[in-house]
Amino acid sequence: MNVLILGSGGRENALAWKIAQSPMCDKLFIAPGNAGMLSLGENLPIKVTDFDSIKKAIIENDIKFVVVGPEDPLVNGIYDFIKGDKEISHVGVFGPSREGARLEGSKEYAKEFMMRHGIPTAAYRSFTEENIDEADAFIDSLKAPYVLKADGLAAGKGVLIIPDAATAKASLREMILDAKFGQASAKVVIEEFLSGIELSVFAITDGKDYKLLPTAKDYKRIGEGDTGLNTGGMGAVSPVPFADEAFMKKIEDTIVRPTVEGLEKDGIVYTGFVFFGLINVDGTPKVIEYNVRMGDPETEAVIPRVESDLLEALWAASQGRLGEVDFHIDSRAAVTVVLVSGGYPEAYEKGKVIKGLDAVDENSIVFHSGTALNENGEIVTAGGRVLCVTSYDEDFREALKKSYGNIEKISYEGKYCRRDIGQDLMRMME
Ligand code: AMP
Ligand code: GLY
Repeated sequence: MNVLILGSGGRENALAWKIAQSPMCDKLFIAPGNAGMLSLGENLPIKVTDFDSIKKAIIENDIKFVVVGPEDPLVNGIYDFIKGDKEISHVGVFGPSREGARLEGSKEYAKEFMMRHGIPTAAYRSFTEENIDEADAFIDSLKAPYVLKADGLAAGKGVLIIPDAATAKASLREMILDAKFGQASAKVVIEEFLSGIELSVFAITDGKDYKLLPTAKDYKRIGEGDTGLNTGGMGAVSPVPFADEAFMKKIEDTIVRPTVEGLEKDGIVYTGFVFFGLINVDGTPKVIEYNVRMGDPETEAVIPRVESDLLEALWAASQGRLGEVDFHIDSRAAVTVVLVSGGYPEAYEKGKVIKGLDAVDENSIVFHSGTALNENGEIVTAGGRVLCVTSYDEDFREALKKSYGNIEKISYEGKYCRRDIGQDLMRMME
């Protein structure tokens, strides 16, 4: 079958790399893709939210299956768009319906879903202009620090953790009354602060059955020792060493299965990835957030560990037959280290020529996050996150050495990466 992947980052490069290996894949298209996907398929210059052009591309290229990478098209209803159009409704879609995507698109919706289905999460209340007068008393009833979340999508920036109550009260007003995050913060969820170590768990579901993907931990801050500004993610390690069998059983029993059963009970059409952002609170896993897509850069460490045919599993899920699929994970660890542009996550320059990609040895796989070809056909930087260098080993510490070794061979002006990916986990294991 011909397959179309929507997206253009390292996540989509990793998905494309895996899907292109499937005997079920005839021709692979990526919209819009990046320079890393050119050897795997054909890039189509289409924005992921331009549904009319996506429809045209589906018809022109006889595409049978669409795999959606990022959240934007999902929250905007790409599933419903394709399924509701007679000319393309036969096309399979891997990604939830607009209703399902609200688990990521609205923090309040996700909280209500968890409450309804008894899924452990932080205590919360939500506020708008209407009940803002009640917020001060709620803030006073919580212990510091205070967690304020814009209800809607805010490009990963909508969560504030505030040390004192007075600032929390003022920030709440800025969010709601001064539209600090635009329309996304017209409603704000205030929640109990949970303390513990975070991990990400991923599943594939068809709304009835699920297959767990490997766990991962990502590194969000730009600076070593988790300092400085938040980024899209600077590296990932899979599996998370502290997520042992007993802890994973708790996660499946109290979170993953109740979530999938909840989707079914609520009649929510959901064929896609579920990304559980979790926190380990003294041995009890709780949900910090749901995403309705894979994580980036977690995908670049998680998907290389899938031994089975990923396309077969995603396709079966889209046909409601996920339960029939055998799904195996490689027991080796995988890590990925992200190379970014100088200045990121603030202003940075693009168009820097990348050298040394050919010198990377067979110990690592390079996925492209933000790259393009320039007029001379050279690969150049085209985003904040530029490349992800993934390696495997029985021991994630050895895998990290392989990635850092190959990173030395790659050069471009302003190249930066965190040198301490995985070090917190190494300390925990000592
Ligand atoms: P979110 O966008 O919901 O993932 O939140 C972004 C980050 O804020 C999370 O990765 C956590 O580090 C932190 N965070 C969110 N909610 C809480 C909470 N209730 N307690 C502690 N930290 C939180
Ligand atoms: N790495 C976190 C995310 O993709 O949201």
